Amino acid sequence: MKKISLTGIKPTGQLHIGNYFGAIKPAVELAKTYDARYFIADYHSLNLIKDPKQLSSLIREVAAGWLAGGLNPDEVIFYRQSAIPEVFELTTILMAFTAKGLMNRAHAYKASVQENIEKQSDSDAGINMGLYTYPVLMAADILLFDSNVVPVGRDQVQHVEMAQDIAQALNFNYKKDLLVVPEASVQEQVAVVPGLDGRKMSKSYNNTIPLFIPENQLKKLIMRIVTNSQGVDEPKDPESSQIYQLFKLFASADEQKALADRYRAGGMGWGEAKDALFQVVNREVTPLRERFNAIMDDPKKLDDILKQGADKARPIAARTVARLRKAIGID
Ligand code: TRP
Repeated sequence: MKKISLTGIKPTGQLHIGNYFGAIKPAVELAKTYDARYFIADYHSLNLIKDPKQLSSLIREVAAGWLAGGLNPDEVIFYRQSAIPEVFELTTILMAFTAKGLMNRAHAYKASVQENIEKQSDSDAGINMGLYTYPVLMAADILLFDSNVVPVGRDQVQHVEMAQDIAQALNFNYKKDLLVVPEASVQEQVAVVPGLDGRKMSKSYNNTIPLFIPENQLKKLIMRIVTNSQGVDEPKDPESSQIYQLFKLFASADEQKALADRYRAGGMGWGEAKDALFQVVNREVTPLRERFNAIMDDPKKLDDILKQGADKARPIAARTVARLRKAIGID
């Protein structure tokens, strides 16, 4: 039997090229070797996003984006967290096995407290219980599906370790392996994708290239990539240029070599390098953009896909909760 992998996608922003290489592509790859489950972590976003229109459209856009990016809903289980009420029942059960002190140690929570202290505000300012207990909800997401492996970014490893702690505390109390203890899997080799300003591409730096923007806007954004002041004639170093770093992600080995040679020979201005980059990015994202627009234009189909995923997920979730209710004496 294949091992079970599960990961959550928090819909908090427009998908960009960094998400594509850092999360979507590796996830599509992983689905080949694991019994893979992916869900839109919409209740996690509620902690941050309180505008209903914004939250609702982000959920749809992010779901459509992952489908356009190659996630095949017939091969994986792809659902919305909010469609699985068992997540919230399991969260309540897990709360009773989660030490408050464990939550105090969560990096994300501690960072918010630290920010408040630096701003000389009350240390709890702006921190809601959803944020504070976020690791319990995340543990429920994971443990509900008997997940063996949880592919995450480095920033989420601690949360997976908390899910381990919580599962072990519960198993220990009932002297029984009621919950599968999961492992985090951090992809070491995923490329760091540079943003328009050369720093890591990230929504919080406001330096992203959104995945599905129209061609003319894509071109404009690429033309805005920050470069140094070297003139056209000067030979240039490809490895220290973020245009070339981005180009490598999209181009074949031959294309990479050809552009690197143009850099080193001199006689190539930054405009020309940017144009070469635009060509390869656009070549790869055009079919994605078309799929994305087609999905967004057919809301009923998107709903059906997500419902079909929830229908596959719910019986699994119901089994886990029934097993636990029986074990804890609430049956
Ligand atoms: N916390 C994760 C993030 O911010 C999203 C997430 C929610 C998740 N539940 C999960 C990831 C369960 C893996 C497993 O990216």
